[in-house]
Amino acid sequence: MKYFSTNDLPLNDEMINFWNNNGYLVIENFNTDKECDELMERSSYLIEHNNFNNQKSIFDTVNQAHNDDSYFLESGDKIRFFFEEKANLNDDNIEENKHFIVNKIGHALHDLDKVFYKFSHKQKLQDIALSLGFSKPKLLQSMYIFKQPKIGGEVVCHQDSTFLYTKPESTIGFWFALEDANKTNGCLQVASGGHKGPLRKLFKKVDGKMQMIDLNDEPFPETDTFVEVKKGSLVLLHGRLPHYSCENTSLKSRHAYTIHVIDNNNEYPEWNWLQRSSIPLKSFIND
Ligand code: FE2
Repeated sequence: MKYFSTNDLPLNDEMINFWNNNGYLVIENFNTDKECDELMERSSYLIEHNNFNNQKSIFDTVNQAHNDDSYFLESGDKIRFFFEEKANLNDDNIEENKHFIVNKIGHALHDLDKVFYKFSHKQKLQDIALSLGFSKPKLLQSMYIFKQPKIGGEVVCHQDSTFLYTKPESTIGFWFALEDANKTNGCLQVASGGHKGPLRKLFKKVDGKMQMIDLNDEPFPETDTFVEVKKGSLVLLHGRLPHYSCENTSLKSRHAYTIHVIDNNNEYPEWNWLQRSSIPLKSFIND
C-alpha cells in the first residue's frame, strides 16, 4: 500500500507508475470532512423522502439476482434504492428501519441530484481522468454504498469491466471514502497488479436476457491488499482490477460513493446492462 497526497495532483510520475504497476491508486484528503458529511446527509435525506412501499429489490452479488430485475436493469438514468440481502423486509419493518437496510442507491445520482452533481462534477476530477489517459471522460454511473453495520453484504471478487464494458476497455472507478474504511468494517481488497490479467466475464444481454458469459477461466489472484483508507480519500480502480469486500459485521458503517467513468471515444455496446433512455452522459465539467 502507498498513500498519495493531493499535493501530488495532477498525477505525478510516481503516481502514474504506481497506477500502471498496481491498477489502483489512493489519494488522501481529496475531499474535506464537510464535503463527505454533505453527501452522507443527502443520502439520508433521499432515503427519508423515498417511498419504499412495493419495492423490494435486493442487491446480492453472491447469487447474481439481477438478471431479470427490471427495477435494477432500468436504473441507469434514475435514482433507485436497493436493500441489503440480510435485511428483514417484512412490510411493517421497512419504513421503520429504512435507514439501516439500504445497501446502495444507484445509478444516476451524479446527474439527477444537485448535491451529488456538485460532488461529482469538478475540474480536479477531470484533470485526474485526463492524466489517466482518458480523452473524453464521461460519467456512466454513480452509486452510494452504505455497507451497513452488522448486515453490510459481501461483494464477491469481480472486475468492473465485466459490468461496464467499452470497446476497447476504458472503465475506471472513482471510489470516494465518506467514512474510514478498514479491515473491521469491510474495506476494499484488491489483487494488486491483477489488472494485467485477462477479463474473465461479461455481463451481457443475450436475446433480451442478462447472462454472465465466461471469457477466460484463469482464476483471480488473491485480493490480499487491504485498501484501508481515511474519510475523504479517493481510490482509483482500473476496470480490470480484481477487487472484493467482505461483509461488515462490525458496529460501524462504511459509507462510500463511486463514479464509473468511460471514454466517449470508445464504443459502448448496447448489450451492456446499463442503458440510458433519457439524459445523455456528461463529462466532469463543461457538459
Ligand atoms: Fe466493483
